[in-house]
Amino acid sequence: TNRAEEKIFYLQVEAPESVTEGQNVSLTCKSSCALTNRATFIWYRNSQPLTERRDRNNQLLLQSVRREDAGRYSCALHGHSYTS
Ligand SMILES: *[C@@H]1O[C@H](CO)[C@@H](O)[C@H](O)[C@H]1NC(C)=O
Repeated sequence: TNRAEEKIFYLQVEAPESVTEGQNVSLTCKSSCALTNRATFIWYRNSQPLTERRDRNNQLLLQSVRREDAGRYSCALHGHSYTS
């Protein structure tokens, strides 16, 4: 029998191992499959959507980070239910 191959899709946030206050920090949303350039990412901190500016499409740039920026970051693909 022919079975359709199932590809597992996931998103993963890449972040620096350690961060000190005042640094500019860039978070990257990596996907397990290639995406079109039109794919748009959404970022969240502790489940709240963020509006910070993007470095590139799949990167979130946090400028001069402060203690209040600490939290759990996740990314999602606009229009899909995948969340990292
Ligand atoms: C952070 O980024 C801003 C804007 O690009 C820049 O002006 C600033 O010098 C950077 N700060 C550090 C610590 O790299």
